[in-house]
Formats: sequence, structure tokens, C-alpha cells
Amino acid sequence: MKRLGILTGGGDCPGLNPVIRGVVRKAYLEGYEVLGIRNGWKGIIDGDIAPLDLRSVSGILPKGGTILGTSRTNPYKKEGAVQKVKDNFKKFELDALIAVGGEDTLGVANKLVKEGLKVVGVPKTIDNDLSETDYTFGFDTAVNIVTECIDRLHTTAESHNRIMVVEVMGRHAGWIAVHGGIAGGADVILIPEVPINIEEVCSIIKKRHAQGKNFSIVVVAEGAKLDENSEVLQEEKLDDFGHVRLGGIGQVLGEFIEKKTGFETRVTVLGHIQRGGSPTAFDRVLGTRFGVKAVELVKQGKFGYMVSLKGVKIEAVPIEKAVGTLKTVDMDFYDIAKVFFG
Ligand code: F6P
Repeated sequence: MKRLGILTGGGDCPGLNPVIRGVVRKAYLEGYEVLGIRNGWKGIIDGDIAPLDLRSVSGILPKGGTILGTSRTNPYKKEGAVQKVKDNFKKFELDALIAVGGEDTLGVANKLVKEGLKVVGVPKTIDNDLSETDYTFGFDTAVNIVTECIDRLHTTAESHNRIMVVEVMGRHAGWIAVHGGIAGGADVILIPEVPINIEEVCSIIKKRHAQGKNFSIVVVAEGAKLDENSEVLQEEKLDDFGHVRLGGIGQVLGEFIEKKTGFETRVTVLGHIQRGGSPTAFDRVLGTRFGVKAVELVKQGKFGYMVSLKGVKIEAVPIEKAVGTLKTVDMDFYDIAKVFFG
């Protein structure tokens, strides 16, 4: 019997469990045995690996997070870790590995493929900023959470005549901000791709209020920058992949807005609320399709490829292409959001 391993790496998101379930169910039909690797690349370095059978994936479809656990461990940043990955690949007699993750996890997968390991990728990120796939699962759930939160903030903003600044996730790309902002009817949406012009933001708000509105909703992505400055950070320490911890732009922006417009302002940071809980139907279906297709790619020997959503079809694309550049918000789309500013 052939054996495949599966791991989930990087930030968790709703839809990971549907992928794992899809992989195990399809593998069972194809006569593969599946081993679950705990906590991303850390698990294969440490040999923290155990069989995943049909019973282990029963009932996980609606659950958020990942039953396998995750980490931001980068084997290329730890002395001797890549060799341990290779050794455990052999020791656990893996014929193939399915790596589920974003740019960082798949970047490692891409390097390991070049070193001769048989790896297939599944794209994951709530930020939806991975190239070569139209959507990643987790994103739709996050956007729905943001939309509901904006709806809730609308009613309290209106009651108190306030400006509400809502900080959402989106490290390098503003997809969550633009989709959530359009769906929630935000009055200003600020994204990492376009430096914030504070004067412009305040003049949009002042004009809106002069026209009779007594409240405004401003959505800002955590990675948005004020006038070409660097991002606002919670912590400067870098993780294994060289990322700082973002967060705080909402507060900085809120203080500017209150000072410059004179309108009372409150700030809400949605943070990890956007990553938790049950996946939407869309993300359950996408995760399931990705999981099933990943096993098909293993069967076809398409190592070094990643499953991807192109239009309505699930296709295979080289991991190398997907991790080369990030998919940022295109300005035609942002222009649609701007129609509703003010
Ligand atoms: O990459 C996904 C993401 O949710 C980003 O939007 C955010 O900056 C980051 O992960 C947060 O990571 P952590 O879970 O380590 O706080």
C-alpha cells in the first residue's frame, strides 16, 4: 500500500479540516494510507506523525482550525532540519507529501521538491494573496465575519454619531478589506497597496457629514501604511519567515481622524476572530475539492504542483509560479469600492 503524508502550516484558517477530510476520503478510495503530520514542518522534523484513518476525519467538516495543528516553523532556518525532513520522509516510508499552506509553507515545499522530495501543494490563506489561484479557502469565511461585524458597527455608530474604524487582517494585500468593506457598505476602505492619505480620508468624512450623515465606517487593512511610512507593528521580532507582527494602524488612524475632523471616533480590531470558527459553505466546498484533487495529483505523479481554483475549475499549477509574487488587489476592483466612498 502506498503512503502519503499531510501537514498544515502557517496561520490556521477555516477550511483546513475539509481539506484533510477530502484527502483522507479520496486516498482511502485510491488505496493509499495517510499519515497526519502534526504542527506543520515542525512535525516532520520531529517525527511527530500518526496515521489518519476514516474515523479520525469523521465530523470535522464544519470545524474551524486544523485537527493536525500548525506552526510557522521553517526547516531552512534551523540547523540540520532539512536533513531531518528527508530522513523522516524515508523512515515513515512516505511516497508523497501534501503540504497545505500559504506562501511560506509552499515556499518550503517548492525548495524540498528541488531537493528531490515528492510534494504536492494546497493553497491556504485568509488573506487570499497567493498567486495562481483565484481564491483560497478561509477567505470567504473571513469576509463574511467582517461583513457581519461592519453591519453591527453600523447600528452603534449611527446611535452615537461616531466614526467607527475597523481594522481587518491583510498583511500585504487588502482583499479582506475591499470585499468586506464593499459587502458591509464601508464609507472608506484603506489597503496596503495604496498609502493612506489622511487629509483625503478626513475630507471624505467631513463632506459626508456635511451632506447630512452623522456617522462613518472606515475599514483599514492591518498592513496599510500612512503616507509611505512603514506598517504599524505590535512586535518587531521576526518569525522564521521574516515576518513582523502587524497591528495598530486602526488606533493610529482613529486618533488622526478624531483630531482632524472633530468627530468622536472608536476603533475595533477584528484580529483572529476572522480566522476562527466554522467555515462557510463556499470554503467547505473549496477545501473539499482541493483535498480530493491533491490526491489525484499524487496519483498522477504531479509533484511540485499545487491545486488551484481557476474560474470554476480546479487545476494544477507549478508551486514555483504561485510563490513567486503575491496577488495584490487590482486597482480596477479598488475603483469599484471607491465609488461608494463618502
Ligand atoms: O497570513 C494570514 C494572517 O492572518 C495575516 O493576515 C496576519 O498578519 C497574520 O496571519 C497573523 O499571524 P499570527 O496568527 O501569527 O498572529
